[in-house]
Amino acid sequence: MSKSNFATIKQIGYGAMGLEGYYGESDDSVAVETLVHAIEQGMMIDTADAYGAGHNEDLISKAIQRTEQKAFVATKFGIVFEEQQTGSTLDTGWGFPLTINGTKEYVARAIDNSLERLGVEQIDLLYAHYLDPNVALEETVQAMAEAVKAGKVKAIGLSNVTAEQVLRANEIHPIAAVQYEYSLFRREAETDILPAVNQIGAALVCWSPLGAGFLTGEVKELDANDFRNNNPKMQGDNFATNLERLEEIKKIAVEYDITPAQLALAWLVAQGDNIIPIPGSRKTSRIDENLAALQVTLSEETLAKLNEIAPIGAFKGATLV
Ligand SMILES: NC(=O)c1ccc[n+]([C@@H]2O[C@H](COP(=O)([O-])OP(=O)(O)OC[C@H]3O[C@@H](n4cnc5c(N)ncnc54)[C@H](OP(=O)(O)O)[C@@H]3O)[C@@H](O)[C@H]2O)c1
Repeated sequence: MSKSNFATIKQIGYGAMGLEGYYGESDDSVAVETLVHAIEQGMMIDTADAYGAGHNEDLISKAIQRTEQKAFVATKFGIVFEEQQTGSTLDTGWGFPLTINGTKEYVARAIDNSLERLGVEQIDLLYAHYLDPNVALEETVQAMAEAVKAGKVKAIGLSNVTAEQVLRANEIHPIAAVQYEYSLFRREAETDILPAVNQIGAALVCWSPLGAGFLTGEVKELDANDFRNNNPKMQGDNFATNLERLEEIKKIAVEYDITPAQLALAWLVAQGDNIIPIPGSRKTSRIDENLAALQVTLSEETLAKLNEIAPIGAFKGATLV
């Protein structure tokens, strides 16, 4: 990967989405302390303007002000979350559609709003959260490139895109990172996204690297208002079958005397030095636990065994993006 973009951060980052209560209640003052801890550990902070409709970026701004350590913040635009804004309807397979706007006017405005909420002069890494199905990729990426030229953004990335889109966008402006769901729980990125990312020398930033908590072994049932009820992998028979498969993975964690979360993250890091998992947690102790996965080296034999237990598509339940 382009080392210069990520030289100041650890290979495991921190995803801040869960601080908005998607996977259970979150307390704002604890959340700010949690963010300060992640920043001080040298982890990239991953957010989006849509997380908590701007609230997540506000929390990060508070954390940035509370520490001397320079934060590395990656944010995203494109999911419409303000009532007065319009966009294109995108089906996600999560049981509800998203509204996406990728026009150059929307991109410019979203960047200015994120800079203001975050209270920074430059965004370290800016992603298009999803591409707008009715706006040419060229228009969106060109608008992002303009922001780099203006000094508002340091590096750009794409999230939830196809390999072909990665290559096309990289012709317009270097793409530093592609964000996609990637873990033992969902390995489809290996088929085409990862080769494209490797081809252009970018980083693959893995969202839900713990399978939205599933791979930790702690998720056995979900509260009625838990966002993960929308995930086909955590519904009905799929959920039960997937939990059985997880037992085989947990046995390997026991052999290494590490937690299942650490095993899941060590496996990702072993896939390449351009793979950056961004696990989320509301607890500083878990941030430390997750970061410590960088000290774990899995043997070739273990990696082969994990391939057997969890090949691409092994965990049941399709998701579209
Ligand atoms: N680009 C996109 O479209 C997209 C989509 C989804 C997510 N993301 C990004 O990816 C980040 C991570 O994804 P995610 O939050 O969906 O899933 P994740 O990181 O795979 O899992 C988070 C869940 O795991 C639990 N957890 C974390 N560490 C743990 C540990 N060591 N032991 C036990 N449980 C643990 C957390 O609970 P506690 O809080 O209770 O610890 C939380 O419920 C997000 O925060 C967001 O920044 C991006």
